[in-house]
Amino acid sequence: MTQAEAMILTALAGQQAQVQALAETDSTNTRLKEWARAGRIAPPYLLTADCQTAGRGRLGRRFVSPAGTGLYMSLLAAPPQGAGSGQITILAAVAVCQAIEELTGLKPKIKWVNDLFLRGKKVCGILAEGVDRGVIVGIGVNLKTPPGGFPPEAGAAGALDAEVDRFLLAGRIGHYFLQGMARLDDPAILDAYRARMPLTGRDVRYTQNGQEKTARVLGVAEDGGLIVRDEEGERVLRTGEVTLGSQAFSGLL
Ligand code: BTN
Repeated sequence: MTQAEAMILTALAGQQAQVQALAETDSTNTRLKEWARAGRIAPPYLLTADCQTAGRGRLGRRFVSPAGTGLYMSLLAAPPQGAGSGQITILAAVAVCQAIEELTGLKPKIKWVNDLFLRGKKVCGILAEGVDRGVIVGIGVNLKTPPGGFPPEAGAAGALDAEVDRFLLAGRIGHYFLQGMARLDDPAILDAYRARMPLTGRDVRYTQNGQEKTARVLGVAEDGGLIVRDEEGERVLRTGEVTLGSQAFSGLL
């Protein structure tokens, strides 16, 4: 076992998982997906890589993953029967916030559905993907700004800029996530999400059927959907992305 893997295992603090820390891979999500499909691994499994050559984001985007500046990790977990993907997404965002808060004192905000923002910049993205009888939750946290800055395609990216060991952070994220997975219906998880998700009461833009719309956010539904009201009435958004325009930079996120 490497020092990095030992650190992750210790930080899991009672939560059981197989752990592997790689120097480089294409994408930790792709690795777990292939290994799970081939029957090589079983949940719970936590994989990290120092860098990714083909990191993937939501909506088919690339996730730039250089060495030395970020945490790139994926968890393969077996959700309880009946668990919805929205609940798992919400749990993942809360788990990452809790681990960052515990280790750095920083307080990231959640932008629905599961982007984490600090000082108006996106510091963490989460990509949840289903696999036979399980879910893979991929988490990318920008710990430092890469030399030369973030590439333009990274959008409003920023970094925690905190001294934190990435393997310790990986283990604590795993701890909170696996602990929550065992009590997914606990209302405290949704409360923790809502408390960190400041869009309620704000106007957001989103695209539906190719049409851009503006709506007022009313809150987060129990299944993780975003409840909004526009000129056509109330609806629950379940996929996609909302944008805030200039509000993102006015201290909200
Ligand atoms: C997003 O912001 O759209 C989601 C980004 C998710 C990135 C992480 S990094 C670890 C894991 N492996 C991947 O290829 N993607 C996720």
